Amino acid sequence: MRLFDDLADFSLAELDSLIELAGHLDRNPEPRALEGKVLSLLFLNPSLRTLASFQAAMVRLGGGSFVISPEMSIHGLESRDGIVMDGAAAEHIREAVPVIASYGDAIGVRAFAERDNLEDDLADRRFRELAALTDVPLINMESAINHPCQSLADWKTMDDLAMPKQGGRFVLSWAYHPLALPLAVPAATVHMAALRGMDVTVLRPDGFELPEAVMDKARAAAELSGGSVSETDDRREAMDGAHVIYAKSWSSTRHYGDQLGDQGLRQELVDWCVDEPWFENAKPDCRFMHCLPVRRGVVVADRILDGPRSVVIEEARNRMVAQMAVLYRMLKG
Ligand code: CP
Repeated sequence: MRLFDDLADFSLAELDSLIELAGHLDRNPEPRALEGKVLSLLFLNPSLRTLASFQAAMVRLGGGSFVISPEMSIHGLESRDGIVMDGAAAEHIREAVPVIASYGDAIGVRAFAERDNLEDDLADRRFRELAALTDVPLINMESAINHPCQSLADWKTMDDLAMPKQGGRFVLSWAYHPLALPLAVPAATVHMAALRGMDVTVLRPDGFELPEAVMDKARAAAELSGGSVSETDDRREAMDGAHVIYAKSWSSTRHYGDQLGDQGLRQELVDWCVDEPWFENAKPDCRFMHCLPVRRGVVVADRILDGPRSVVIEEARNRMVAQMAVLYRMLKG
């Protein structure tokens, strides 16, 4: 494997095999498997889980890693093309990426959406430009429109819980957040659940529809796997018989890149905070998922996060386990 960028690049058998390998490596540690291997980690945006889980995964497999981010004492990074660099930035990303990549056997890159232009972000333009600067094996650690590591971990988390594939009811719900957040996690999640063969409902208020390209990709995955994809703004309808609700906030695509327009819509939606009444007509053991970080009392009530429905810590731990499988396949040969 030379690229881990999108679950859509893999067959269902390959994904099952990766998840099986993740479980195997967790139960049967191989602390020398990647001896002498180095993973370069470039974070152009903040992280807790991705940063820590990749480093822990490499150590558990006997390899090493290093992290570069703009917050460290590196030279100021410039990413614009054709710029005269007479300001604060002393280093261009066009040199920085190949240099960082040259120190490792594979590179992970995190580059969030710029959220100026929806078409650019749907095409993952920024990540593609960074990817073109290196020819070592590459891992997408969250880009404008994808978060494959999170999706693989979430798939494994549902497998661990024996959550049904065909016939499993998965609700991806928009939740309130004071800021307009990127589309990467909702886009990756709706695709992942559809590819897993589940009946997926996107629950979102008016104005927060996911882009048609995202829904089309999820529908194609559902067709492949025997699942289905629908959307509604009716909470009761969405939650009927649900096995899991995955909460996430995202920006309004109707007002993409327009903070004022987005705020005008979202300020009326503070009651989109997941709480026990949401589960009234769901399966009694309906689970709560979230990629983290999550704002308590804003996105979800404390009693849900602290109660038996929540599997957010399991999801976060599975980040490390799933990434061990990706690194093993990428670096062991
Ligand atoms: N879920 C996730 O990617 O978390 P971080 O942003 O902390 O890495």
